[in-house]
Amino acid sequence: MKVSERIQRMKESSTLAVAARAAALKKEGADVVAFGTGEPDFDTPSNIKEAAERALQAGQTKYVSTPGTVEARAAVAAKLHGENGIACKPEHVAITAGAKHALYLTLQTLIDVGDDMVLPTPAWVSYRPLIELAGGRCIEVAGTMEQGFKVTPAQLAAAMTPRTVAVILNSPSNPCGIAYTEAEIRELCEVIAAHPRAVLISDEIYEKLVYPEVDPGLRHFSPGSIPAMAERTITLNGLSKAFAMTGWRIGYVCAPGGNGTFMQELIKLQGQMTNNIPAFFMPAIVEAFSSRSAPQVEAMRVAFARRAAVVAELVRAIPRFRSVRPNGAFYSFPSIAACKGLTSPGGRRIEDAQTFAEALLLEAHVAVVPGGDFGACAADHIRITFATDEATLRKGMARIAEFTAALR
Ligand SMILES: Cc1ncc(COP(=O)(O)O)c(C=O)c1O
Repeated sequence: MKVSERIQRMKESSTLAVAARAAALKKEGADVVAFGTGEPDFDTPSNIKEAAERALQAGQTKYVSTPGTVEARAAVAAKLHGENGIACKPEHVAITAGAKHALYLTLQTLIDVGDDMVLPTPAWVSYRPLIELAGGRCIEVAGTMEQGFKVTPAQLAAAMTPRTVAVILNSPSNPCGIAYTEAEIRELCEVIAAHPRAVLISDEIYEKLVYPEVDPGLRHFSPGSIPAMAERTITLNGLSKAFAMTGWRIGYVCAPGGNGTFMQELIKLQGQMTNNIPAFFMPAIVEAFSSRSAPQVEAMRVAFARRAAVVAELVRAIPRFRSVRPNGAFYSFPSIAACKGLTSPGGRRIEDAQTFAEALLLEAHVAVVPGGDFGACAADHIRITFATDEATLRKGMARIAEFTAALR
């Protein structure tokens, strides 16, 4: 059967590919430690589940308004206003099938063929394929490990041209596990503000996972709260990571600018595509943003902060790895450059992170994601997800240490 050229050109998500390979090995009976998928190991807080159950039993099973119910959009707007300082009204919000869908809708609504999108890298694997699917050109700006995985204002200024329609910022970051400080975000926004045509897409899916335990005083900062950026920032977020709700597929996008036109056009696309997400999730969204969920979200954050410290220590103890200490999200992103040119105990030559990850999975049964799809500057890195319990974390890290030490 015919497949369109644009889909043939698109790469498969490498994180999902790693998960599939690890699952296949597991099925064959191997004891695989999965550090691949970016998914909290906690269960969804019970108050949120109960709100969905009640709505389902009460018969909230019909279509609702495409971007979500009035109540759910109001809850998202109140959260963005109260917690993030973003001047957001319910009509600026669309509730989507995960933040990934929010990103897809945003890029399709924003990009014309040939438009430039500036992407600080290493960056999440889905940005480039979805930018290119929309017809955009992805301009990577390398935030290398030597600069703490952060791009500088000078680098951003050099990458922006009159063709730039947007910059994507993802703080805290997948795959780097780092969060920009408020001051750093303000400096980057000054650069963007000097380009009247450009908007900022701020992907804040990991906002609840910031670790002042690592960097005292660090807190999440939303660029959409800066007055000069208020009308120029599209904020993406969702419930997947903060509330351990990956399987529910609930995301949202907030775009206050353009007299609401941008959001109306985005909702037009959503209406032709998916309509609303499940109607009985709407009260669960309201419940998630209630004060009843806050202690559970904080308990998960504290657990992740502890794991971040454990992983940082175990990665540092591997002489052939170099890394930056994670202070956000749940990823460590070490460089395996010192392993290149060596051969594994099973006779596999390590050429890059891809061959390292393959050998590690097949010989030591640990699944990690090779860095290549996170950007050109990430080809020698692997992503280790620490969204798993401490015992599994220690077991997997011990295997990685042993495998790496045995390379000759
Ligand atoms: C940076 C980033 N943005 C967005 C998403 C999408 O999240 P979801 O579609 O589950 O809401 C992910 C998921 O891994 C992510 O890492």
